[in-house]
Amino acid sequence: MLKIRQVSKVYEGRIAYRALSDINLTVEDNEFVGIMGPSGSGKTTLLNMIATIDEPTTGEILINGENPHRLKKEKLAQFRRRELGFVFQDFNLLHTLTVEENMVLPLTLDGKKVSEMKEKAKNIAKKLGITEIMNKRTYEISGGQAQRAAVARAMIHTPKLLLADEPTGNLDSKSSKDVMEMLESINEKEKTTMLLVTHDPQAASYCNRVVFIRDGKFYSEIHRGDNRQAFFQKIIDTLSLMGGDSNDVSSVRV
Ligand SMILES: Nc1ncnc2c1ncn2[C@@H]1O[C@H](COP(=O)(O)OP(=O)(O)OP(=O)(O)O)[C@@H](O)[C@H]1O
Ligand SMILES: [Mg+2]
Repeated sequence: MLKIRQVSKVYEGRIAYRALSDINLTVEDNEFVGIMGPSGSGKTTLLNMIATIDEPTTGEILINGENPHRLKKEKLAQFRRRELGFVFQDFNLLHTLTVEENMVLPLTLDGKKVSEMKEKAKNIAKKLGITEIMNKRTYEISGGQAQRAAVARAMIHTPKLLLADEPTGNLDSKSSKDVMEMLESINEKEKTTMLLVTHDPQAASYCNRVVFIRDGKFYSEIHRGDNRQAFFQKIIDTLSLMGGDSNDVSSVRV
């Protein structure tokens, strides 16, 4: 599904900054992979490059055997719309639109029929338990509902790869659990491959595998196996071994 080969990213600026060094990662079809690491370790940078929002400085990213960074502008936009789904930490919902209008936005861009869009929106809203809020505007709903609406929008075109950056970052533990259970069930039922960036060990414990990065480099990875509680503990142990706090300073430097 996804192959990241020797990817590095240097942000050019007054002072060039190396955000990622020689990252290699292969994600199989239907895998649910978590990415963790201290603040400033390069997680969003990595996700943005997979999302084709940004380009690697060196190395290669293949999605289903194709390098989207080689596509022409229009083809790339189409590829992004059809193959990928994104959930951002700040939801990225448009406030002048209703939840339903936000959800069908990706389909609108692809010129789908209104009746077809409405049907899809209805089905996915039912699955995600947000039917009652479909006609509300986004400032009239809670953070947890907004996050579910954002997931609904990311899922409406049944993407093959779903990329989520801190989808539970602003949520309390109950809403966070709801969103993670929802993602888990989408992963199982729709066979969507998922990549999740998170600081939250509880959220990460829903993944099949967690990859840790530190200072822009691969640090280690662990697999879930059958026991989520044991996996949760392993995640916490790895985070404390990795020493997140001392590295958090790096983000203050900028
Ligand atoms: N556009 C940019 N220009 C220059 N440097 C950048 C840019 N974006 C990110 N960086 C730097 O690259 C490093 C990695 O940033 P990134 O956003 O990927 O971190 P992160 O792991 O997502 O952190 P967080 O957990 O805080 O979201 C940071 O040191 C950051 O300051
Ligand atoms: Mg980030």
